[in-house]
Amino acid sequence: MRMILVGPPGAGKGTQAARLVDSYGIPHISTGDMLRAAVKAGTALGREAEGYMKAGALVPDSVVIGMAVERIGQSDAENGFMLDGFPRTLPQAQALDAALKAAGVALDAVVLIQVDDSLIVDRITGRRSDPETGTIYHLEFNPPPADVIDRVVQRSDDTEEACRKRLVKYHGETAPIVPFYESMGLLKRVDGVGTPTAVTERIQVALR
Ligand code: AP5
Repeated sequence: MRMILVGPPGAGKGTQAARLVDSYGIPHISTGDMLRAAVKAGTALGREAEGYMKAGALVPDSVVIGMAVERIGQSDAENGFMLDGFPRTLPQAQALDAALKAAGVALDAVVLIQVDDSLIVDRITGRRSDPETGTIYHLEFNPPPADVIDRVVQRSDDTEEACRKRLVKYHGETAPIVPFYESMGLLKRVDGVGTPTAVTERIQVALR
């Protein structure tokens, strides 16, 4: 299975990827996670990306495309992958298309998780994650257990101000990839409102 999860910030892409990858036996490839790891490690790529991310802007295509295409070419992604947060511009989608064609493989599905903007700010500002396991929580919707709550952290771009900028970027730069994949017959629209379990079930049905 070669698939992409698309959706606005806070739609639940990371939450759903964590629930789905094991059943498909494919790696979860999140460009956001890769960039955060580069920032944490203080690499040249991370230093370049950090300012954009904190401000809620997109990291330039010139930086992200090479990083993502290189990752997809690794051996654990030979038989499939679940991309989360890539592509998120039309040039990224076109570059992915070219890289997959060159490798002689094709995408199976692009799942668009739909959540209205009015719900996004609460999801983003309440998000916390466990630095030890990477598990994503929400202070209200999925509270961290008592033995974890003291160590959860908040992402630096999870402020209301950065979230609103990310939403503007999503509608301006990422939404155009939806008709691109729709025209290829790959797009599956899934309602992202409801419990995480209900959303997982909808994705599984859409992928059948
Ligand atoms: P990235 O990490 O990809 O962030 P994003 O797309 O904004 O998505 P999020 O991780 O914020 O949300 P999500 O959809 O994964 O939601 P989650 O499951 O956590 O990118 C970050 C930054 O990196 C970008 O802004 C950009 O600067 C840069 N970047 C990354 N890729 C790039 C690229 N390709 N090109 C250029 N720049 C790039 O859920 C959110 C919260 O909601 C959680 O608290 C969760 O518990 C809760 N929740 C989840 N599901 C539900 C539900 N069903 N009901 C209630 N709450 C729920």
